[in-house]
Amino acid sequence: MIPQETVDQIMNAAVIEEVIGDYVELKKSGSSMRGLSPFTNEKTPSFYVLPAKGIFKCFSSGKGGSVVTFLMELEKASYPEALRMLARRYNIEVQEKERTPEEIAAATAKEGLGNLVAWASKWFMDQMRTTEAGKAIGRSYFVERGFRDDVLDTFLIGYSPDSWDAMATAAQEAGYTAEKLVEAGLCKQRDDGSLWDFFKGRVMFPIRDVTGRVIGFGGRTLTTDKKVAKYFNSPESVLYNKSKVLYGMHLAKPDIVKEERCFLVEGYTDVMAMHQAGVKNVVSSSGTALTTGQIHLIRRYTKNVTVIFDGDAAGIRASLRGIDMLLAEGMAVKVVLLPDGDDPDTYAKKVGSDALHSAIHDDAQDFLQFKTKLLSDEAGNDPMKRAEMVRSVVTSIAAIPDAIQRSVYLQSSSTQLKMDENVLGTEVAKVLHEQSKAAAKRAAKSSPYGSQPGGTMPPPQGSGFPGDPGAAYGNVPVDQLPPPQEDLTPRISERAVIENDLVRALLEYATEVVSVTLEGEEGAEPTTLEVPFAELVIHRIEEEGIDIQEPMNQAVVKRFSDELDHERILTADQLANDQDMGVQQKVAGALVQQHVLSPNWSQRHKIYPVVERDQLLALLEDSLRRMHLTDLREASREVSAKLEAGELALEDERDLLAQKVDLDRQIQATLAHFGTVILP
Ligand code: CTP
Ligand code: MN
Repeated sequence: MIPQETVDQIMNAAVIEEVIGDYVELKKSGSSMRGLSPFTNEKTPSFYVLPAKGIFKCFSSGKGGSVVTFLMELEKASYPEALRMLARRYNIEVQEKERTPEEIAAATAKEGLGNLVAWASKWFMDQMRTTEAGKAIGRSYFVERGFRDDVLDTFLIGYSPDSWDAMATAAQEAGYTAEKLVEAGLCKQRDDGSLWDFFKGRVMFPIRDVTGRVIGFGGRTLTTDKKVAKYFNSPESVLYNKSKVLYGMHLAKPDIVKEERCFLVEGYTDVMAMHQAGVKNVVSSSGTALTTGQIHLIRRYTKNVTVIFDGDAAGIRASLRGIDMLLAEGMAVKVVLLPDGDDPDTYAKKVGSDALHSAIHDDAQDFLQFKTKLLSDEAGNDPMKRAEMVRSVVTSIAAIPDAIQRSVYLQSSSTQLKMDENVLGTEVAKVLHEQSKAAAKRAAKSSPYGSQPGGTMPPPQGSGFPGDPGAAYGNVPVDQLPPPQEDLTPRISERAVIENDLVRALLEYATEVVSVTLEGEEGAEPTTLEVPFAELVIHRIEEEGIDIQEPMNQAVVKRFSDELDHERILTADQLANDQDMGVQQKVAGALVQQHVLSPNWSQRHKIYPVVERDQLLALLEDSLRRMHLTDLREASREVSAKLEAGELALEDERDLLAQKVDLDRQIQATLAHFGTVILP
C-alpha cells in the first residue's frame, strides 16, 4: 500500500495538463485545454482538461476524472500503478508499507520475473555474439537469411545453446531460482527436480512490451525437421499477457504516429525484414488470432491498418473473418496481397526495398472491396455460393461501428456486387438488429474473448493470420460488436435535464457561501443565515422529499449528504477522485460542460445559460419546483391514462378522479407558491 501522505504528495505534484500532454496535444482555449481524444478516433477535438480543477473529460468516449483516472484508463493501469507512474514522473519516492503478504508476493514475483527475463535476453544475445557455437550456428543462420547485424541488435536477437542446462546453470549462478526459471518458461523441471533448457538450440526473439521491456521470448528451431515445432513461445506470466502484446510495437510506435498507419504482418521475421527495408511502422500478432486488446493497442497510435497477406489462399480466407474485428473496432483497414508464396521477408529480399515500398503503399486495397472481389470471383455464378458471399460481405459491413462509414461501404459494395443498395442495406440492418438483440440478452454475461490460451504449445497447424479459422470469428461474441449507432444516443428526459443542472451547480459552487432568510416562529423576526451552497442544496432536497432519479446524480448527492453528516463540505476536486468511476465521470462532465460548453448547452436546453453566483438560490428553488412539477405531472398523466382506458368499477373511477383533482391542485399550488425558503 502507498501511504496516504505519499498519495497526497503525488497528487499535489502532478500537473494534469503535463501528464495528459504526454499523450495528447492540448491547445489552450479559455480556462480549459482541448485536444483529440486518445480513447477514440475523433476528428474534431472533444477532449477537455480543466487545469484549475484537475480534471479531464472526453465527450467522445464519456470518460472523465482525475489525472490518476486518466492513466488508469489509458495505460490500463491499476490505481496504485497509476500513482507509481506519477511518482516516477515527478521524482517522488514511494515507500510502500503494510502490504499484505499476497501483495508483496505479487510485486516481487513480477519484479523478479522482469529481472530474470531481462537478464536472459542479454545472456542469449551474448551467446550469439561471443561464443563459437553462437556465431557459427545462430548468427550465421541470420546472415544466411540476409539479416544485417544492426537489425539483429535492434531486435535483441540471441541464441540459446544446444545444451540441456547451459541457461539453467548460468541463471542459477547469477542468483535466479529454479522456481523463477520455470515460471518464466525458460526452463522445465524433471521429476527429480533438475532443470532443462526449454529453448535449447533455438534462435531467440525477445518479445517486448510498449515501453521496450523484455517480457517473453519466441524461439525458432534451426532444424528443418517438420515434426519439430518451428517456434516455441514463452507462456503467459505476470509479465506477459499475450492478448495485449504486439511484436515490434515498442520500435514501431513513433513511425506509426508519423506515418499515420500500422502494417500488420504474420511473423517475427517479417517485422524484422520490413525494418531492414526501412519500413518501421510494422507489428505482428505472432501467429495468434488478433485480439481486441491488440487492436486497442494499435488504435492508441492510429486507426489506419494495412494487413499484409502472403499469397496463400486458404490463409487469406481464414484471416478475412478475423479482420472484421478490426472493422468492428472502428479501424480503417487496407490489405496488401503479396505474390504467391512470398511473405514480407522473402518478398523484400527478392524484390528489394523500393519494390516492397510500392507494393505495400501503392498496391494496398480497401479491405471490403478486396474481400468482395475475392469472394465474388470464388463464387462465380453459383447462386448458393453467391448468397453465402453476400452474407459474408454484409457481416463485414455490419461490423463497422460508424453509421456514415457503413453507408459509404454499402454503396460501394452494392455497385461492386451489382446489387440493389436497398436490398443489401436491408440485410445489414437485419444483422445489426440481431446483434443488438443478442447483445441485450448477453449483456450480463462476461466475455470469454480476449484471453489467449497460455502454455508453450505452438498454435495449431494452419493457424491463420490474424485470426485462425473457426476460432477467430467464432470467438467473437456478438455482444462485442457495438449496437447500431442510433441506439447509442440516450434520450434525456426533462427531469434529468433539471437534475443535471442542479448537480452541476452543486459541484461548481459547493463551498460558495449563500445567505438564506429564515422565517421566524410566529411573531419572531426572520433571521439571516450564511451557509455553504452544498449544505443548502442537500437540506432542501431532503426537506422537499425529492427523489433524485438519475443514478449518478443520486450518487453525487449522496456523497455530499454523507459528508454533511460529518459536517464536511465536499469539493468537486475530491469527487473527481471518487472510487466510483461513474461519479468521476459525472463530476468531470458536469464541470467541463459548465466551463466549456455552456453556451451550446444552454442553447439546446434553454435553461440557465450561465449560473451566476448570486442566482444560486433562485436556481435551487426553481430546480426543486420544476422537479416537483415534472413528478406531479407525470403522476397526473398516469391517472388520466387509467381513466381514459375505461372499463373501471365505479368506485375505482371515483378514486382516480379524486387523485387527479388532488394532483392538479398540487400542480397549481406548486406553480403559485414556491421559493420561500423554510429552514427549521
Ligand atoms: N508461430 C508460432 N509457432 C509455430 C509457428 C508459428 O508461434 N509453430 C508464430 C510465430 O510468431 C511466427 C508466426 O507465427 O513468427 C508466423 O509463422 P511463420 O510464417 O511460420 O514464421 P515466420 O515468422 O515467417 O518464420 P520464418 O521466416 O523463420 O519461417
Ligand atoms: Mn512466414
